[in-house]
Amino acid sequence: MNKNFDVIVIGAGPGGYIAAIRAAQLGKTVACIDAWANAAGGPAPGGTCTNVGCIPSKALLQSSEHFEHAGHAFADHGINVKGLTLDPAKMVARKDAVVKQNNDGILYLFKKNKVTFFHGTGSFVKVVAPGQGAASLPHGGYEIAVAGKAPATLVGAQVIVATGSNPRALPGAPFDEQQILSNTGALALTEVPKKLGLIGSGVIGLELGSVWRRLGAEVTILEGLPDFLGAVDQQIAKEAKKAFDKQGLKIELGVQVGEVKASKKGVTVAYSNAKGEAQSLSVDKLIVSIGRIPNTHGLNADAVGLQLDERGALVVDADCKTNLPGVWAVGDVVRGPMLAHKAEEEGVAVAERMAGQHGHVNFNTIPWVIYTSPEIAWVGRTEQQLKNDGVAYKAGTFPFLANGRARALGDTTGLVKILADAKTDQVLGAHIVGPMASELIAECVMAMEFKASAEDIARICHAHPSLSEATKEAALAVDQRTLNF
Ligand code: FAD
Ligand code: NAI
Repeated sequence: MNKNFDVIVIGAGPGGYIAAIRAAQLGKTVACIDAWANAAGGPAPGGTCTNVGCIPSKALLQSSEHFEHAGHAFADHGINVKGLTLDPAKMVARKDAVVKQNNDGILYLFKKNKVTFFHGTGSFVKVVAPGQGAASLPHGGYEIAVAGKAPATLVGAQVIVATGSNPRALPGAPFDEQQILSNTGALALTEVPKKLGLIGSGVIGLELGSVWRRLGAEVTILEGLPDFLGAVDQQIAKEAKKAFDKQGLKIELGVQVGEVKASKKGVTVAYSNAKGEAQSLSVDKLIVSIGRIPNTHGLNADAVGLQLDERGALVVDADCKTNLPGVWAVGDVVRGPMLAHKAEEEGVAVAERMAGQHGHVNFNTIPWVIYTSPEIAWVGRTEQQLKNDGVAYKAGTFPFLANGRARALGDTTGLVKILADAKTDQVLGAHIVGPMASELIAECVMAMEFKASAEDIARICHAHPSLSEATKEAALAVDQRTLNF
């Protein structure tokens, strides 16, 4: 029997589940289909983010940071921990419990918002012409098959594709999740490898490299590009690199990775270093974190003529409309940064556009955060981008070393940097490396969204003592009038 819906969402990651909830809030009848299965074969909505991405990585980052603090930082506070031991299996079990809470939370939200959930793989079957078929839809729609334990055929007047992305493998070195690991295997290790190698010092490389270094692994990261975090403001990247070097995270830049050989004993990576000299790295486990590929596998896009680009991403316009009327796509499967909050914003905007509202995503104010220690966070343009764009700007920086709360915390690494237009003083970018940068950046995002000037931030009363005073002081520094440095 066909089941008709105003909206069918394929994929329940942050893009899909949020789009489904918002569409239901706006009065649509909504189905959401998701294929992710937990260890018992049951539904595990939340996508990459919840199952093998944002949430589990942050759970392990937190646990490993506690371990590092107990082993190294507590003594400075007069707290001596004797006989400190590590139970990685328990740490991973806790991470799994956090993931499950999030899976269950989404199922609860679907019930609350009357979104009908289907566990299985959704694929396009055919276009349903206006007024035709069991759908009897005045404007037509799409027939979608659900393959899984409970197969179903659905018809949706409109469809949102939110099928996410998959990790990219090195040529000739497929993921076996035993020795050569993607994020999935890297988040499931129940023993600390003695020697851990990572390919790629991007976001995953730095976050997961940090987790396993803190837990005792000897970590080496091989990065192809000559600059460390080339997309990040280079003053911030340099400060972060100094901190990572001090922690013992070995990062080799400008390498060219050659043959990768995996055996039961471990993995050997042949590579040439920045000088072009032949090198070899032998490790117990290798994590490959060299970017992600949009996932359209299983969608049967050809059946309806849904257009993909040369990267395999679904082609969409600025409003997330695909080439097919009534079919939209959001999140990692389309252009733009592969971030959970970007996917969510697009999901909300599409649901609102479907309801005749003016959904809006501002790509200029999407924040980035790397959850290392120190954290790295930014929004807007970097100093190098402003130079390239020929924009006259003023820069203000303030170090956490001069911030009272950072001193009390015992975490004074890093700085806040604000870039403002030289003439209008409008904030064009904000860049932070240091404690709680992930939380501090929200103020800067808000400032940019409201088109604030550096002077506006400088004149806002910030609580004392707080890390956010460093943001205020960096804004004062734009006008060369810091008060505490
Ligand atoms: P996904 O989350 O990938 O969800 C897609 C869903 O669709 C999946 O459940 C999949 O099973 C399902 N699906 C696919 N095809 C079908 C089909 N045909 N039928 C039914 N279901 C289907 N981003 C951040 O913003 N912050 C972070 O801290 C962060 N940390 C990360 C850490 C790691 C290790 C990784 C790998 C990623 C991280 N990301 C982070 C990125 C973030 O996870 C993604 O940007 C986000 O999950 C994209 O959301 P999405 O909804 O587009 O896709
Ligand atoms: P990435 O794009 O962040 O980093 C990949 C790195 O690998 C780059 O530095 C690149 O130069 C390097 N590289 C590529 N090919 C290489 C090769 N053959 N040899 C050596 N180096 C090579 O991708 P990553 O880390 O895999 O993460 C994927 C995406 O997931 C991120 O871009 C981000 O969108 C998302 N993510 C977000 C997080 C967050 O918001 N905190 C955390 C983790 C992932």
